[in-house]
Amino acid sequence: MLSWDEFDKEDGSEAAVASNTNAQSTDLGVDKLDQAGDAAAHEARAVAADDSAAVARAKAALDQLDIQEGLDELEGSAARVAVDEKRMINCRADLNQLVPFKYDWAWQKYLDGCANHWMPQEVNMNADIALWKSTDGLTDDERRIVMRNLGFFSTADSLVANNLALAVYRLITNPECRQYILRQAFEEAIHTHAYQYCIESLGMDEGEIFNMYHEIPSVAKKASWGLKYTRAISDPTFNTGTVETDKELLRNLIAYYCVLEGIFFYCGFTQILSMGRRNKMTGVAEQFQYILRDESMHLNFGIDVINQIKIENPHLWDAAMKDEATQMILQGTQLEIEYARDTMPRGVLGMNAAMMEDYLKFIANRRLTQIGLKEEYPGTTNPFPWMSEIMDLKKEKNFFETRVIEYQTGGALSWD
Ligand SMILES: [Fe+2]
Ligand SMILES: [Fe+2]
Repeated sequence: MLSWDEFDKEDGSEAAVASNTNAQSTDLGVDKLDQAGDAAAHEARAVAADDSAAVARAKAALDQLDIQEGLDELEGSAARVAVDEKRMINCRADLNQLVPFKYDWAWQKYLDGCANHWMPQEVNMNADIALWKSTDGLTDDERRIVMRNLGFFSTADSLVANNLALAVYRLITNPECRQYILRQAFEEAIHTHAYQYCIESLGMDEGEIFNMYHEIPSVAKKASWGLKYTRAISDPTFNTGTVETDKELLRNLIAYYCVLEGIFFYCGFTQILSMGRRNKMTGVAEQFQYILRDESMHLNFGIDVINQIKIENPHLWDAAMKDEATQMILQGTQLEIEYARDTMPRGVLGMNAAMMEDYLKFIANRRLTQIGLKEEYPGTTNPFPWMSEIMDLKKEKNFFETRVIEYQTGGALSWD
């Protein structure tokens, strides 16, 4: 095991040489140091007698490198970035300069996401495996819920990840938001991994589960509704910059953040977490609990991005766009209600499809108001207040109290 003492000892002789060199250089000013550095770098490229033909060719090729030509291909201007030049879409400032931040909330969410890091293999699945394999451990209704939800989620998170990486990332022209999107994309990979881990642990038919989004209508409808909104902006020739294309991106963000991640996940999360509360399939439930915590951050990030685009481009948020956004959220709610009926043809786990319908309408009202639209299901209340409690949990303690998780984050790495 590496200890700092050994590290210091090994490094001792080089440190002495370095401090000697520093002493010789102290009388050089910054400009002269620049010149000396430039000359030394240039000298390193001279072909030496012992260079092989391949090394000599590589050095010679770099003599032809036109720095300007390479940099000209980058997005944005070459100047230092000022905060007020930064924009969520259609920004012309250099996108490789992370700071100064304009959207501190995006950076904070990136930090919060990293602090919540977890991996599926850390969750103990032994009790789930025993329960799943026993003949009288779960009712048919409960087994249906586990199968349907693993079927939906095992591909849904891939749809979200692909939409982020292949469409949205390129079009959001802000480096701190891109930093969060990269973190989110990795979290989506962890979620898909978690579903795969559950499916494998329980010894399910992988082909049946992963292909459910083609075979089971209530699952397929949700997937194909989402895919419809990624088609246009996934085209590599698609670009924002006109009212119509900017609206197309906005539609995609509403479809994915408000509906897929904001509504389509909620019936399944509630069902599986309700199982965990009843001490059934606690490993699967614990995986879903961590996923839900990540998802509520994805949703909040998406809402902030949508609202920021509206602030910077008020002409996009006209009556037609507001009506379209409302319709999208209502269609999504309807599809999720149908999914609730299909997954719960009768009462199970202390809940039924009618209660879920109320919950989904309550969620839909929240999604509408979060992006500045009016509620469409007035007077609806939340029949599952414990869901909000789970979403707000900090990582140190999990809801089912099966274990405590503590990650090292930041610079305080311990070697023992
Ligand atoms: Fe996810
Ligand atoms: Fe997500």
